[in-house]
Amino acid sequence: MIIVYFSQSGTTAQAANELHKLTQAAIYRLEPVKAYPSDFSTLADRAKSEVEQDVHPQLQDQKLDLSGETKIMLGFPTWWHQAPMIIASFFDNYDLKDKEILPFTTSGQSSIKESLPSVKKWAIASGTHVGAALTANATAAITKFVNENDL
Ligand SMILES: Cc1cc2nc3c(=O)[nH]c(=O)nc-3n(C[C@H](O)[C@H](O)[C@H](O)COP(=O)(O)O)c2cc1C
Repeated sequence: MIIVYFSQSGTTAQAANELHKLTQAAIYRLEPVKAYPSDFSTLADRAKSEVEQDVHPQLQDQKLDLSGETKIMLGFPTWWHQAPMIIASFFDNYDLKDKEILPFTTSGQSSIKESLPSVKKWAIASGTHVGAALTANATAAITKFVNENDL
């Protein structure tokens, strides 16, 4: 298993690190070529226009090798009630056929359920299967998920 995640302001990175500590799985952070702005309203505008215009922002080439992996925990912040469009770029850039994606999100309050339609749409297009999903806003929820899914 490998943990692959995007995090703009560090919260999803923290959740990914908790998963890493519990599972010992390898961990990778996705980075956009064009950095997202830290100012909230500029970021919110860009995130929204990427959704509206179906922009798949370019990923930095990180030489991420997923060939030996069957399970990928895929983390991201919830943006506008779905996964950020950089997650679509992840599905574009890697051969994920026959792998299982376990999505997790951090958010103000949104559940992972809000992001599942976007993730499933991109997963289906890449021949990937979406498995169990986690709202990773609390350590207790993360621990429970790892135990219940035998990760
Ligand atoms: C552009 C934008 C849109 C957001 N939309 C939502 C949302 O729809 N629902 C929610 O609960 N939180 C939303 N948030 C809050 C983030 O999901 C939350 O702060 C997240 O933990 C940030 O993760 P990060 O530090 O890994 O980037 C939004 C934040 C931003 C910047």
